[in-house]
Amino acid sequence: MLNIVIFGPPGSGKGTQSKNIIKKYNLIHLSTGDILRNAIAKKTPLGILAKRYMDKGELVPDKDVIQMVINNLDENNDQNGFIFDGFPRTQNQAEFLKNLLKERNTKINVMVTLEVNHDELVKRLINRSKETDRSDDKKVSIIENRINIYNKQTAPIIEFYKKENKYQPVDGTGTVDEIVERICKIINKYK
Ligand code: AP5
Repeated sequence: MLNIVIFGPPGSGKGTQSKNIIKKYNLIHLSTGDILRNAIAKKTPLGILAKRYMDKGELVPDKDVIQMVINNLDENNDQNGFIFDGFPRTQNQAEFLKNLLKERNTKINVMVTLEVNHDELVKRLINRSKETDRSDDKKVSIIENRINIYNKQTAPIIEFYKKENKYQPVDGTGTVDEIVERICKIINKYK
């Protein structure tokens, strides 16, 4: 199996790049943000809970997100591998994922971190807000809150993957194709 964590701040291109990478390596795209938005659209109990956090740009509690990931992995048994997009986002989630994959005799091969500067992130998300109805793109204050939460609660898990020799930073600016090429060069070394 090939399991990749695609990491980076809001707007760094995790979703965009994941869509390209799954095609090249025949992986499942496990985006916790997409699963939660789907739950919100369907007004499930998880969606109703998650909306309270996501509308403010805050993290959904670990226990709810972790259970959701377990369910998703169970539904996608016997696959070539996964690209984890938006997960893990806390130290707890990173440790949980390591243990869960170990129980299944597999592991994360590499964590690809997209690096994009703050002003470009805000610009991309404001642009997207004109085309989609994501509630967390609507106000600059919420976008800034998401970036702050990334810096405070999520970026520290880079250390977790550094210790495992799996951390790989990538310049996340340029054309989408240029970035895909940079990412594939890294994945090919770890697969
Ligand atoms: P999530 O859906 O994961 O959102 P995010 O991390 O805020 O990231 P985005 O989807 O905004 O950006 P992205 O990096 O995927 O970039 P994209 O490719 O879309 O999470 C949303 C919320 O769900 C969280 O805030 C939290 O509340 C909750 N949540 C999710 N997972 C959780 C977890 N594990 N634990 C707890 N809570 C969780 O690109 C952005 C824009 O830029 C697009 O318009 C795109 O077209 C454009 N773009 C992409 N690449 C380029 C490029 N190279 N040049 C120019 N523009 C580009």
